[in-house]
Amino acid sequence: MKTTEQHLKGQVALVTGASGGIGQAIAMQMAAAGARVVINYHSNDKGAQKTLSQIEKAGGSGLIIKADVAKEGEVTGMYAEIATKYKTIDILVNNAGIQQDNSIAAMTLAEWQAVINTNLTGSFLCAREAVKMFQKQGVAPRRSKSAGKIIFISSVHNVIPWAGHANYTASKGGETMLMKTLAQELAPQKIRVNSIAPGAIKTDINKKVWSDPKQNEQLLEMIPYGRMGEPEDIANLAVWLASDQADYITGTTIYADGGMTLYASFMHGG
Ligand code: BGC
Repeated sequence: MKTTEQHLKGQVALVTGASGGIGQAIAMQMAAAGARVVINYHSNDKGAQKTLSQIEKAGGSGLIIKADVAKEGEVTGMYAEIATKYKTIDILVNNAGIQQDNSIAAMTLAEWQAVINTNLTGSFLCAREAVKMFQKQGVAPRRSKSAGKIIFISSVHNVIPWAGHANYTASKGGETMLMKTLAQELAPQKIRVNSIAPGAIKTDINKKVWSDPKQNEQLLEMIPYGRMGEPEDIANLAVWLASDQADYITGTTIYADGGMTLYASFMHGG
C-alpha cells in the first residue's frame, strides 16, 4: 500500500475494531499517511498482529490494545495506555461494529443489547474519552488545523431500512444523531465529527452473502456501480476526511456505496 503524501504526519490515530475488514484497512492507510496508529481489537489476536506487522513492514508504527469498546472500564483503560505511550490522540475512528441478525419476533434482548452496546454505546464511550484528550491538547498547528477528528464508520443502513436487522439499523440511525450532535457541540472547539457510510464492502461481516453465488448476484443488483466495495475504498476516504484537506467538513455523512442508496430498482421501473 503506497501513500506518498504524508497528510497525517505526526498525528496519532485510534482505530477501533482494527483486527480485520474495514478497520484493518483504515489502520494501514492511516499509518501509510504518516500517523502512529493504535490498533484496538476485541478478540482476534492474530488479526491485530497482522495489522501491526503490515504497518511495520511498510515503515510505519503502531500499538495494539485489546479492549471491548462496550465496556466503560476497558475503554478508559485503553485511553490511559494511550496517554502513557503517546500522550494524546488526534484522530478517533469509531469502526468497531457487529451484526446479530434476527426477525423482530425472534430477536432476543441479548441480541438487541449486544449490537446496541458495541455499535452505539461503544462509539459514545470512545468519543467521550477522545474528546477529553482533544479538549486538553487544543489545536496543535504543527500537526493539524483542528484539535481533533472523529470519524464514525456508519452504514447505508443509517437510511435504508433492513428487514431482519432491527438492532443493527437502530444502532446506525442512533449513531448518525450522535455524530451530528457531537459535531454541533464541538465545532466551536475546532473538533470535527463526521461519518462514512459504506455500502456492501467485501469483509467477513457479509461473507455468507457474497460467498453464495445466488445471494451475491442479488446483492450486485442493488449496486448500480456493479461491484462490491473493498476495504481500501473506505480507508482512502477515512484518511482524506481525517486530514486538513477536509478541514471545513463537519457533521456530514459521506456515502461510499457504489450507488446503493440510489434506489436501484427504479432503474427499471417506477
Ligand atoms: C452491513 C453489511 C451489508 C451492507 C449493505 C453493512 O452495513 O454490515 O452486512 O452487506 O451494509 O447492505
